[in-house]
Amino acid sequence: MNFQAKVLDTLKVKTDCLVLGIYDGALTPSAEVVDSACDNVISNLIKSLDFKPAVGKTLVVPAVTGVAASRLLLVGLGKQDALTSDKLKKALTSAAKSLLATPSKTAVITFDDIDAGDISSDWIACQGAQLITHASYKYDTTKSEKAKPAPLKTVVFAASKESLKDVKGGMTRGQGIGIGVNYTRQLGNLPGNICTPAFLAKEARSLARNQPKLTVKILKEKDMRELKMGSLLSVSAGSDEEAHLIVMEYKGGAKTKKPHVLVGKGITFDTGGISLKPGNAMDEMKFDMCGAASVFGTMKAMIELQPSVNVVAVVAASENMPNGKATKPGDIVTSMSGQTIEVLNTDAEGRLVLCDALTYVERYKPETVIDIATLTGACIVALGKHVCGLYSNDDDFANELQSLSMDVCDKAWHMPLFDEYQQQLDSNFADIANIGGPAGGSVTAACFLSRFTKEYTWAHLDIAGVAHLSGAAKGATGRPVPLLTEYLLSKA
Ligand code: BES
Ligand code: MN
Ligand code: ZN
Repeated sequence: MNFQAKVLDTLKVKTDCLVLGIYDGALTPSAEVVDSACDNVISNLIKSLDFKPAVGKTLVVPAVTGVAASRLLLVGLGKQDALTSDKLKKALTSAAKSLLATPSKTAVITFDDIDAGDISSDWIACQGAQLITHASYKYDTTKSEKAKPAPLKTVVFAASKESLKDVKGGMTRGQGIGIGVNYTRQLGNLPGNICTPAFLAKEARSLARNQPKLTVKILKEKDMRELKMGSLLSVSAGSDEEAHLIVMEYKGGAKTKKPHVLVGKGITFDTGGISLKPGNAMDEMKFDMCGAASVFGTMKAMIELQPSVNVVAVVAASENMPNGKATKPGDIVTSMSGQTIEVLNTDAEGRLVLCDALTYVERYKPETVIDIATLTGACIVALGKHVCGLYSNDDDFANELQSLSMDVCDKAWHMPLFDEYQQQLDSNFADIANIGGPAGGSVTAACFLSRFTKEYTWAHLDIAGVAHLSGAAKGATGRPVPLLTEYLLSKA
């Protein structure tokens, strides 16, 4: 998609589709101008109830005389004084879908004139470009019939002289994030028999091709044995696929600047291992590498946007399978940190691969470390599917991330990591058990990780509920690439 930002004349601009925001009870300035020039076509549609300007309602109005545009796309925004960033995101999402369903090759979006609370020109353009990019993706890799690309090629964000710079900035950032999100969705959607740990390693190599700022290093099981990553290796033990630890370094900042580190859970399929999962919806465990996929997507956004920040991305990629060599409940393994772990449940494998990756990244003397993982079903029980669980060993860091997540509509909610929970991980036979019982399962999983992150400022995002959708819309969401990318950009 070719995105542009321009100051233009709403009535005279030649475009296949002019996209107009409509409040419930008022018109945005652009819609007002069009309405007056076109015999009140918009207000008449509202009066006749053919268009109801509720949040996210849309209507395509073809061949209107009085404007140079070939068609109008009306987008409901609801009551102006009740408009929030969440509602505006909902409106932009359906606007993007409706726009892509028209035969338009070009479009002009006039949402810069939306006036609601403290929503900025930058924010609107960023979400607009992100959501149009999002709506342009359709999975077809393993279908015989390929999706037809939508005709839409060029989208112009209308701006004022004053807002032009902000609109341009937001639009560019939004496109970079959208491309990252779609890349994450694509990797997440690929089936487990294609997207293996070795496949992800190859993917990292191709991501870095012709990218001078990005370098890739792949550790195989032999390397991990030398590093004494007994915990990670205990997860891949039962699989014919070799585990891979994938390290990508994006060097955009000064050499002396400490890196921000991302660590992704990359279980390319989670059967549960010997603690085998029930069969129902087990296919969705191909999404158990969505933390890793979000790390890939964020690196893709770094390549697109080239910020001056140093980022180290580590993906712990493995299958979790049950064979004769598989780790058994009660087995005790020694992590890279030296701590011994009693594996009471082989289905709590995410923390077992992450803990060694989290010890490994100490060598980068990181400024901050964020791990991203589809870690626990318990997080879905606690928070549902709209926000991810956020844990940290530093309250200021947690507050920073939670507040940013609200701003960018990719919500994370701060959860407790109190010492009281830690005793649930006591083991009679090892330094720590890998499960903490039924109470507070998402918290005790985070507690487990906290035993390996004492050397740096760390946050953990449990994305089990937000990484993919189920049912008719089954598919990876690309979250939390917007949050991660905006976080790294804020450090540039
Ligand atoms: N990958 C799962 C968590 C998960 C569940 C993600 C549902 C997305 C949807 C994880 O490896 C797992 O199996 N966790 C167990 C932990 C338990 C054994 C302590 C769980 O949540 O049941
Ligand atoms: Mn599991
Ligand atoms: Zn898992």
